[in-house]
Amino acid sequence: MDYFYRMNAIDQLRSTFLQHLKNRITESEPAGLYDPVHYILELGGKRLRPLLTLMSAKMYGAQVQDALDAAVAVEVFHNFTLLHDDIMDAADLRRGQATVHKKWNTNTGILSGDAMLIMAYRLFEGCDREQFFQLHKIFSKTALEVCEGQQYDVDFETRDDVTVSEYLLMIQLKTSVLLGCALQMGAIIAGVDKKEQELIYNYGIHLGLAFQLMDDYLDAFGDLATFGKEVGGDIRENKKTYLFLRSIENEDCATELKEWFALDHEEMNEDQIEEKKEIVKIFFEESGGAAATLEAIKHYTVKALAIVEQLSISDENKKELHDFSVDLMSRVS
Ligand code: IPE
Ligand code: IPE
Ligand code: MG
Ligand code: MG
Ligand code: MG
Repeated sequence: MDYFYRMNAIDQLRSTFLQHLKNRITESEPAGLYDPVHYILELGGKRLRPLLTLMSAKMYGAQVQDALDAAVAVEVFHNFTLLHDDIMDAADLRRGQATVHKKWNTNTGILSGDAMLIMAYRLFEGCDREQFFQLHKIFSKTALEVCEGQQYDVDFETRDDVTVSEYLLMIQLKTSVLLGCALQMGAIIAGVDKKEQELIYNYGIHLGLAFQLMDDYLDAFGDLATFGKEVGGDIRENKKTYLFLRSIENEDCATELKEWFALDHEEMNEDQIEEKKEIVKIFFEESGGAAATLEAIKHYTVKALAIVEQLSISDENKKELHDFSVDLMSRVS
């Protein structure tokens, strides 16, 4: 059978999306500004957020075509946040390749990122007045929340009293709200009522919490070849992840772990950073923090799945969303 016919519905949506991305993002001069934009957008990635927009629109009865610009907007916005996030996290690797600020320089990462934020907004220009207003509103609210989450994330690096609930609020802001927004945009395009919009947004919030918890887990225990990012980068940066916070609940590990997380990587050489990563990972496992993180991923996935059951979509679509959510949590990249 031809490859096309073997593609499942998700692959088809992804391929439709990729074609549209190519058609819509065509700016090229000055190359110093736009080459990095094409570079990051063409590095790949899971395309999770645009898929959520397209799935949501389709499941509520809209034409996929009508949701493509919003899908590109959310992916371009996401990639903008990655450019700036990689500067903030001093990350050298993204999707298995050099980050933009490493391949070019920091100023490039900042300005190409800024351009992408504006490009994302411009993608709403083709919408009618009412839809434009609604999409613009949720998008702007979300974008500001992502900034708030990113600020908390950085603030937490140098704090030693971060709580689990503060961490959960931080990841809701930096990650979950964009998944919720992606889904809600699909619902807006399909013209469903506010209540249903809120329900699918809420599915995205829970999916996002599980997703970021998994990202934190993979950052420590993932495989560079598939994860595509520096393994242990969060440990180097003293990120107060769920892994860390649950590990220090174990009194046998707390003091030493906190000492490791008080070290500044700028005052350490590569060997010392590697040693820190190895020792911290052992603490994460032996304290029970790693197991608690896997439990939490399950907990939020189950909550997300329960919301799927409440959505006003067909049973077939519920199954598709259910399977998609479960697959996402067994990801390695
Ligand atoms: C990375 O997002 C940033 C997080 C919120 C964890 P993804 O894991 O969706 O990255 P790509 O787009 O697939 O590379
Ligand atoms: C990123 O969180 C969230 C945003 C980009 C807004 P991380 O810093 O954990 O993402 P990765 O691990 O670099 O992809
Ligand atoms: Mg990062
Ligand atoms: Mg970050
Ligand atoms: Mg991460």
